[in-house]
Amino acid sequence: MTIPRPAAVIVLAAGEGTRMRSAVPKVLHEIGGRSLLGHVLTTARTLAPEKVVVVVRHGRDQVAAHVEHLDPEALLVDQDEVPGTGRAVQVAMDALGASAAGAVVVLSGDVPLLDAGTVAELLVAHHADGNQVTVLTTQVPDPAGYGRIVRDPGTGEVTGIVEERDADEAQRAIDEINSGVYVFDAAALRDALGRLGRDNAQGEMYLTDVLALARVEGGHVRALRTDDRVSVEGINDRVQLAALGAELNRRVLERWMRAGVTVVDPATTWVDVDVDLAPDVTLLPGTQIFGASSVAAGATVGPDTTVRNVEIGQGATVVRTHGSDSVIGPGASVGPFAYLRPGTVLGEKGKIGTFVETKNATIGRGSKVPHLSYIGDAEIGEQANVGAASVTVNYDGVTKHRTVIGSHARTGSDNMFVAPVVVGDGAYTGAGAVIRHDVPPGALALSENSQRTIDGWVISRRPGSAAAQAAQAALDAQQSSEEPSREQA
Ligand code: UD1
Ligand code: CA
Repeated sequence: MTIPRPAAVIVLAAGEGTRMRSAVPKVLHEIGGRSLLGHVLTTARTLAPEKVVVVVRHGRDQVAAHVEHLDPEALLVDQDEVPGTGRAVQVAMDALGASAAGAVVVLSGDVPLLDAGTVAELLVAHHADGNQVTVLTTQVPDPAGYGRIVRDPGTGEVTGIVEERDADEAQRAIDEINSGVYVFDAAALRDALGRLGRDNAQGEMYLTDVLALARVEGGHVRALRTDDRVSVEGINDRVQLAALGAELNRRVLERWMRAGVTVVDPATTWVDVDVDLAPDVTLLPGTQIFGASSVAAGATVGPDTTVRNVEIGQGATVVRTHGSDSVIGPGASVGPFAYLRPGTVLGEKGKIGTFVETKNATIGRGSKVPHLSYIGDAEIGEQANVGAASVTVNYDGVTKHRTVIGSHARTGSDNMFVAPVVVGDGAYTGAGAVIRHDVPPGALALSENSQRTIDGWVISRRPGSAAAQAAQAALDAQQSSEEPSREQA
């Protein structure tokens, strides 16, 4: 099936979206890690039109900046104070110029689940039937709020669309609704738009009136009905935002499961549309994989893990972890209870263990930071081991400094690395060391605080306390166990 290339796709995004009750324009709200408008622009581009036009007005600057970021080639067109979908398409057609000919697709910026395949079917039907207008419709149990598709009772042909607020009782009972997705012949559209009035309940220029006008001129007006109701649903409030977000996620997970990913609990697993998963990845309950993350074959993520823009290598395990903008190498192990902040790069078979926070840190192949540590602005070589409860002291209150720990180094527990500082390859450090000066390769660095012990201090200074009593009992026991041995001597 060859899909005819449309002259233009017009995306309507000028509406106010008051029911979102938000400072953010409706079409910039996100599901699946992409704005509603982003989903529609992706669909628009998939159809390979000569032009993509986005009509803006409410929240203009925010929406325009977003479009420029996502699709710099798209043509931004401002709607004026004349309201209505008809006016929105009219300003877009004016911007395209009188020479634009052929099929023009119209999409709504707030219908995110519509897939390019459905629009392609609409385009194919439009050309095959030689239509002037082809509208995508669907049947719904509750058509309230939608425009109703009016058909000739004799022939069944579409005669027009009537908006809810303009409909009589019989028309309101119609359960076939207008999805707001259309293909028009450019010339017929231009002509009908020029004859649109505002004589309706909302005083708006209705795009939907184009159907009846095109028919009057003898044009072919047809409807294509889809069974996938959800794919044409628009978002008007946050309840619908959540419902369609969940449905999108369900579809994304189903696609990955069919491609060989195990999702133990789809209800608590969220995967953004831009994430890439390999076969034999396992996602355990409570896992969210956001942004431009990727997970390679055989890796296990979760339970209870949230990652954003994280690359997870083949066969790695990531347990109860929160991470962003990081790389986890093949066969590496992370968590439970790890926090990977941006710039963390963990090498092959490396380990970031329990209650460990990392930031802007490269941890080389086979190197381990197993317990209770903060590693920031650091570079650790290969096969090194960082002792429990270690901290890179990277911030002097003004500037961040780097800590370098060499390959095969073994640092003791409870070390403070006062950056900038370098621990050479194969060097060791003792427990409790505060490393303020560079340690040459192969050296042992100790910075012991001398320990002073004052015998009997608790017994004399805290007499009668539980501690004093326990101490006395222990000393007595020690003495009586020593006495017989002295007698024997
Ligand atoms: C519209 C249709 C209705 C259809 C429904 C499907 C009309 C008159 N009605 O109604 O038949 O069932 O969509 O969801 O077209 N927009 C502009 N400029 C405007 C007004 C709207 O760009 O002046 C944009 C909105 O941003 C939105 C789209 O057009 O992306 C639809 O507008 P909306 O106000 O939601 O139309 P509905 O009343 O839902
Ligand atoms: Ca709507």
